[in-house]
Parts: sequence; C-alpha cells; structure tokens
Amino acid sequence: MNTIELDQSYVANTYARFPVEIVSGKGALVTDADGKEYIDLGTGIAVNTFGVADDEWVSAVTEQLGKLQHASNLYYTAPCARLAEQLCTRTGMKKVFFCNSGAEANECAIKVARKYGTERKGEDAYTILTLCNSFHGRTITTLSATGQDVFHQLFTPMTPGFVYAPANDLAAVKKIADEMPLAAIMFEVVQGEGGVNPLPPEFVAGIAKLAEEKDLLLIADEVQCGNGRTGMLYGYMNYGITPDVVTTAKGIGGGLPIGVTMLGERVKDIFAPGDNGSTFGGNPVACAGALNILSRLDDKMLDGVKKRSQMIIDGLKDVPGVKSVTGMGLMLGIETEKPAGDVIAACREMGVLVIKAKNKVRLLPPLNIPEELLARAIEVIKSACV
Ligand SMILES: Cc1ncc(COP(=O)(O)O)c(C=O)c1O
Repeated sequence: MNTIELDQSYVANTYARFPVEIVSGKGALVTDADGKEYIDLGTGIAVNTFGVADDEWVSAVTEQLGKLQHASNLYYTAPCARLAEQLCTRTGMKKVFFCNSGAEANECAIKVARKYGTERKGEDAYTILTLCNSFHGRTITTLSATGQDVFHQLFTPMTPGFVYAPANDLAAVKKIADEMPLAAIMFEVVQGEGGVNPLPPEFVAGIAKLAEEKDLLLIADEVQCGNGRTGMLYGYMNYGITPDVVTTAKGIGGGLPIGVTMLGERVKDIFAPGDNGSTFGGNPVACAGALNILSRLDDKMLDGVKKRSQMIIDGLKDVPGVKSVTGMGLMLGIETEKPAGDVIAACREMGVLVIKAKNKVRLLPPLNIPEELLARAIEVIKSACV
C-alpha cells in the first residue's frame, strides 16, 4: 500500500485530508511524493513560522537534540527557563506554564480562571464567557469553551461553566456579566477557525474595561494569531490592551509541539505545586526551537509581515471572483464568489497550497516568505478565483 492507502486504512478517520502526500520542503516551498513543488501559504496551519527546514531553526533544534532531548519537570533545564524569561521580557507577562498544544494551553488558562474566580469571589464564580464563532481546542473542556454548537454535538455532556456572547455585541456581554458571577472573558483577537475575523477595536476595548470593573480575567487565545502572525508579536498588541492570561502554541514552536500559558501580574502566583503539570511541557528541544523563533520576531521581521500583508490585500483588490479579504498581517481570509473548496483545489492544481476557514480561503504564509514567491502565489490565487 502507498502512504495514502496506509493512512486511510490505519489512521483514525478524523481528518478530511487533501489528496497530497508532503515529503519535504525548504522555506516556503514544499514537495509532494510525485516531486511536484508547491508554494505553501498554509504553514501547517500557522505552525512553520519561517517555513520548512529553516536553517537557523534546524540548527537550534539539532544542537539541543544532541545534548539532551528530555529531562522531565523534576529538573531544571536551560532552554525552558530561558524561553520563559524571553516570553516575559517581550510581553510584560510575569510567569509561564509550558505544555504541548493550544488546547492544553487553554485548559491551563481555564484552570487559572476557575481558581482565581473561586478565590476572589467564591465557588460560584467559575463561569468563563467566550465568543460565538470562537475556537479554543478539541479537548472536551476547550470544545465547551468553543462558541460553536457544531463542535458540541455528539460529545455531550460538555464541561459546564461556559457562556457565549456574539463577537461584536458589548451589550450582550455586559448583560451576562450583570446576571451571573463570571471568572473571565476569553477571546481570540482574530478568530481563525471561525473565518479569519478580527474583533472590532471598540468591542475589545469594551470587554477590557468591563473586565476591570467586574474583576474578570482577560484571557487572550493567541494560539493562531500570536507569534508575529498579525504583524505584532502578539495579536492583542494591536489593540492596546493588557490581558491577564495569554495562551499560545503553533507558531512559537516553528514545527515542534509546544503550548504556552503566560500569566500576568494578577495571576502570576495563582498556581502552587501540584496545580498543573505536563510530562513534556518545557521540553528542551521544543524550547530551543521556540527560542530561535522568538529571537527572530523583531521589528524588522514584523514590518516585513505588514508589508507582505499589504501585498496580498492590494493584489486581491477589485479582482473578479474575490468578494472581500479579512484578517490581519499574514492571517488573511478571502471570501470568494466560487465555493472556497473549489478555489483551494484550483490553487493546489496550479502549485499553491492554501487552506479553508469556514466559507473562506485562508492564507497563513511563512512570515519571511520571499516576495517573488508571494507575488507568484497571488497571481495563482487570482486566476483560481475567476
Ligand atoms: C485559536 C485556537 N485556539 C486553540 C487551538 C487548538 O490548538 P491545538 O490544535 O494545538 O490544540 C487552535 C487550533 O487551531 C486555535 O486556532
């Protein structure tokens, strides 16, 4: 059997995969099993921050791999401690919990909120308000946090303790906050899986003010929109707010599994030994890779993200078949006249990999994609939209 047949026979049927076997790549180019080359505008869903087999990242990872691949959290290791220090220095957050995925990072944030609510306001104050159309992960609790019914069906009962409000309805958020004791408000500043929709600035400012008035934690889920993707180091930085908890994963690892829950001033000491843990959390190899990624997300790189973003937006302006482009930085969604799936398939045929978010074509290119490759990819997308 070939890879596709083996996979279909033996891998659990949870993914609707594209009919392509990726075998290798370099930077923004990936190659399939037939030797066909593609410009990759999906980066493994916002993971391969600087593309595939990026030289600097590979060196950082392999150097650490040759020294120590794992030690457990019974011991101190330098990459873990240094990454925590760098994340805090770059964001102003105070402490960091490491795990292995976005869902786990959000699970940790939910634990933080529940402990905070209980300690500050009593054991009824455990509910977290999340937004309709959000996506926070696939564990039962993060699915429950996800404000989309479609993900809840078949897996009930969901974890209690979540309420949902429409993403741009401050009055609805306030009403809920008046009616019941809340612990936190959790949101993505750019809803990724929900269709690449940035939250309106007035709404974000409104929930931040409400959180302050009502002593609620502000939890920014930066799993997808973090790590330079929006043109700022973290997406919330576009909005001038200071969350109490920031979760991230995906792009910070550059291709290895890592999840991070950053704790701000109000919750920096919330945890005591035993409150949370993870066998692989803070793994030296993943942290060495992440340190390399983070060190390169400087102002010059972020300006490059904004420039490339504008190239895409300008390139798709007034193009037949394109209804709108939403998003921020290099996290963009194209609303097309044709079904998104047809556009994605046509792009693939023409050697460009893009992915879907709801009814949109989603672009998440490497942050340093060479401009010539991006320009070529834009031409392909344009012709696929017609
Ligand atoms: C905003 C957001 N939060 C959480 C997750 C879950 O991350 P993971 O798949 O690493 O568990 C995702 C994944 O797409 C995401 O986009």
